[in-house]
Amino acid sequence: MSSDLVTFVAGLPKAELHLHIEGSLEPEQMFEFARRNRVAIPFDSVEQVRAAYDFSNLQDFLDIYYAGADVLRTEQDFHELALAYFRRAAADGVRHAEIFFDPQTHTDRGLPFAVAADGLLSGMVAAEAELGVSSKLILCFLRHLDEEAAFATLKAVEPWLDRIAGVGLDSSEVGHPPSKFQRVFARAGEMGLKRVAHAGEEGPPAYVHEALDLLRIDRMDHGNRSMEDEGLIRRLADERMTLTVCPLSNLKLCVVDDLADHPVPEMLRRGLHVTLNSDDPAYFGGYVADNYVRLAEATGLSREALVQMARNSFEGAFVDDAAKTRHLAEIDAYLAEVG
Ligand code: ADE
Ligand code: ZN
Repeated sequence: MSSDLVTFVAGLPKAELHLHIEGSLEPEQMFEFARRNRVAIPFDSVEQVRAAYDFSNLQDFLDIYYAGADVLRTEQDFHELALAYFRRAAADGVRHAEIFFDPQTHTDRGLPFAVAADGLLSGMVAAEAELGVSSKLILCFLRHLDEEAAFATLKAVEPWLDRIAGVGLDSSEVGHPPSKFQRVFARAGEMGLKRVAHAGEEGPPAYVHEALDLLRIDRMDHGNRSMEDEGLIRRLADERMTLTVCPLSNLKLCVVDDLADHPVPEMLRRGLHVTLNSDDPAYFGGYVADNYVRLAEATGLSREALVQMARNSFEGAFVDDAAKTRHLAEIDAYLAEVG
């Protein structure tokens, strides 16, 4: 890795808009929580855990990821998980993060909704005080579960409505189209929540159309397979839809065979509002700055393109215009400083 590029990217102010907090559980922390909570895990060492992170597709990963989340048992665990993520993110130049969590992964294990929600929210407050990184929390519905379960989750969130920015849709994509959750997303919209959804990661362009037309999303997670549909590319550009793309995730989950063939350069050429994100950094071998650096090294993306994606990250964030202006000015100041 070029050390100039690493330094440039780490200093570049950016937002992270696609991060599953359960996917930031590093193996060391998995052992620590397992010991503290007396939970058995099927690994003897950190090296053995890392060696198991060899995935052929999304489902392969999800099976291990949901098993890993079982060590999270207390509010303190969620608080520490969040704070550890924000410390790493801050070192990567992140000034604002919008983080996902999967409440059903925890409530289905018998944890009250409050354990994950309150632990994460207190971690976010602590991170802002310690690091100056602002954040928002987005709850994701697990799409392999049914509509009724998603509605129950939406009901459970009511006491936290003032502290939850939006809803998302994640987990196994193929076979679980956005249309399955049309009514849930309509209700979330009525409740004043923002709406995002994973679409076109493994699923076809038709799922991206559904996410736009039926879920009425404010932002698209992944969106890679939109590039197979000319009309869709034009539509995403015309609607200025922000895409939260995750290059190292795509590589680890075999959405792309080689980073050199990643669609981001073409997405940018076609006028799409691309942002770069880490998805599940503990599982995919890199935090957000690594995604910028490794993608640039593999594809030859220019520094201007990296800066454009950092700008896009603030423009696509769920913050007010004053905050966007302040963050964009910070990028300008950084560029003036580094020349
Ligand atoms: N949950 C965590 N990471 C995910 C991803 N990349 N796609 C779908 N669901 C997820
Ligand atoms: Zn994701």
